[in-house]
Amino acid sequence: MKILVTGGTGYIGSHTVVELQSKGYEVIIVDDLSNSSIEVLDNIAKISGKRPLFEKFNLVDPDKTYAFFKLHSDISAVIHFAAHKAVGESVELPLMYYRNNIASLVNILQGMISNNIRDIVFSSSCTVYGQPDTLPVSEETAVQKAASPYGNTKQICEEIITDTSFSSNIRGILLRYFNPIGAHETALIGELPLGVPNCLMPYITQAASGKRPFLRVWGHDYDTPDGTAIRDYIHVVDLAKAHVIAVERLCNANGKDKIETFNLGTGNGYSVLEVIKSFEKTSGVKLKYELNDRRPGDVVKIWADTSLANNELGWKAEKGLDEMTDSAWKWEMALANKIAK
Ligand code: WQD
Repeated sequence: MKILVTGGTGYIGSHTVVELQSKGYEVIIVDDLSNSSIEVLDNIAKISGKRPLFEKFNLVDPDKTYAFFKLHSDISAVIHFAAHKAVGESVELPLMYYRNNIASLVNILQGMISNNIRDIVFSSSCTVYGQPDTLPVSEETAVQKAASPYGNTKQICEEIITDTSFSSNIRGILLRYFNPIGAHETALIGELPLGVPNCLMPYITQAASGKRPFLRVWGHDYDTPDGTAIRDYIHVVDLAKAHVIAVERLCNANGKDKIETFNLGTGNGYSVLEVIKSFEKTSGVKLKYELNDRRPGDVVKIWADTSLANNELGWKAEKGLDEMTDSAWKWEMALANKIAK
């Protein structure tokens, strides 16, 4: 079966392409390379023994998108990652986020309907829950008003897929990621943030490698055991495996509804200081960090009730925090060695 992976040269996309190809799927990637590099294709080939098909264009362009779907009408399903995803940037540039993240999805769905392609797996986020009143968060937990245009695009895209399924053959699985971190065990693919990282894990590894002077811990007076914020960190490979299961569920028409939603987390919450402690243990590096004021827009604590994905998808995250921080550090060192060459 041929699977379209949009954003397939990105962080989660590239790990998902590896898992798909390792299971014998044919993959075609569409990516505009605005936040990733073409050499990821070589590294995917090194890991899985196959170089995916690749086309470079922006899915916001309707003509290119429709022409693509017409040419590749033999696609069995779409896994849609391609989107801008920096919370802070989305506050600065809301129109860029609304155009990029929403227009691309609309074009994809139109292209699918016109070529009788039914199934889409959508990359959503726990951001849609905001700061939940009760924890852990289940899929039934109310979606709250988004704290950023980025989060709002995820909510709107979920609604667009749902509404489209009522008036067409479209079937969808919405995957709400918690906090993906870590890298493939080969250290050939991983997170490649452009510029200063927004997210915790790449900032930790860059601070440890000397690329950044130190880590700022945003907030240390929260109502949590050690005062720092809590998140449900999940290994990117565990997350990638869930996408293969989801696309198979759709293609085999095993879904219970035309639209299904699953939380993808581990069910465990870890504080910033606990992540730092794990990193220091696995890397052997003493991290320089400074306790700072809270970051506007941050939620205090969130972790997933993973029972629906466990029971319905037969999927459960297997890798613990130490494996996540260890693989992130190995990836950072591989990057540093490559630059040193
Ligand atoms: C985690 C914790 C920070 C950096 C966001 C998006 C989410 C997803 C992942 C795209 C928080 C603290 C961070 C730093 C720190 N994005 N932190 N110092 O904000 O939970 O989620 O990124 O898919 O949709 O909302 O992740 O890694 O930015 O922050 O103390 O230099 O680490 O304050 O408590 P977040 P994060």
